[in-house]
Amino acid sequence: MIALGLADMDLPGPPAVAGALAARAAHRAYGYTLCDPRGRDLVARWYRARHSVDVDPDWVMLLPFSPRTALRLLLAALDPAGPVLFPSPEWGGFAAICRAAGVAWQEVPLVLGRGGEAGGYRLPTEEFGRRRPGVIMLSNPHNPSGRVWTRAEIRALAEAVADGPPGAVLVSDEVHGDLLHPGRGLRQPVAVDAAGDLARYTVTLNSVGKTFNSSGLPSCFAVVPDPGLRERLTGVMAGFGLWEGGLFEQVVQQAALRSGGPWLDALLAHLVTARDRLTGLLGDAVPSPPEASYLLWLEAAALGLPVTGARTALLERCGLEVTDGADFGAAGKGFLRLNFALPGPLLDTVLGRLSLL
Ligand SMILES: Cc1ncc(COP(=O)(O)O)c(C=O)c1O
Repeated sequence: MIALGLADMDLPGPPAVAGALAARAAHRAYGYTLCDPRGRDLVARWYRARHSVDVDPDWVMLLPFSPRTALRLLLAALDPAGPVLFPSPEWGGFAAICRAAGVAWQEVPLVLGRGGEAGGYRLPTEEFGRRRPGVIMLSNPHNPSGRVWTRAEIRALAEAVADGPPGAVLVSDEVHGDLLHPGRGLRQPVAVDAAGDLARYTVTLNSVGKTFNSSGLPSCFAVVPDPGLRERLTGVMAGFGLWEGGLFEQVVQQAALRSGGPWLDALLAHLVTARDRLTGLLGDAVPSPPEASYLLWLEAAALGLPVTGARTALLERCGLEVTDGADFGAAGKGFLRLNFALPGPLLDTVLGRLSLL
């Protein structure tokens, strides 16, 4: 059985991160630590260098816990005055977080265009606005499909929350956003930038976890332009004994952002080759070809798999373990998600097995 489900990579991360961790681990004092404010400048420099986006270092919060925890704490700080909206299909974490928080949410079905230029998922931005959201949550790029939402779509969602109830915010979860595939002239629509004058209605969440294969050492960073929201989030964190910084978390984050760029470029070239081989083989079974990250969204029926029980059928027929599309909301039924961040020889085996379908 080859595991292609969970969203992390079967590829080693950058040597610079391992080296920095080893050096810090060799220093045997691991006492309480203060937040190193230079980490904020590093985040701002990363956005300038990789995305041509200006981020005020004062907006950056350096969080020593996973993106999922950050979203849960953020929801507590926001205390939304309207429904939480997110697309369907969408990363199942948003629903789980709302459920845990006892907050009502609504799924807004994405529009799926078929074939050619109009192919792939689109955000029904007017529908989001019509429902007067208290919070919009969005994976940007999209998990599960790897779609990169357009700047116009992100701007329209920022307008929807700006017109919504007081305190409404667009939360753009961009943990896959540094894995933008080169070669298509796309730019990651970093929400804080795409929203323009509405930036204060946005929270942009990012992490080195997916990009540098370090999710087991949980850390993330949030760009929060609204000082009131930064203060409220700091207060919620303090209630759980959490403060900005984090000893090993900041070592990983700073090493990755300071020197991980060339390693990331090589990784992206590898991922694009894998993507092209898979989409070449699977054709119409990939309704929204990925433009970022390492996830492939597959239509079970187009693969000749039963719509109900597709995951089990693929496991039994090919020994390939993928994620059930139903984990991504109502619109995910009948789909599967496959992780292709694999070493070359393992990818060869996966392609060989899929070609037998
Ligand atoms: C869009 C998105 N956000 C957040 C996460 C959660 O990351 P973690 O479980 O490390 O908090 C994931 C993980 O797959 C994800 O895809």
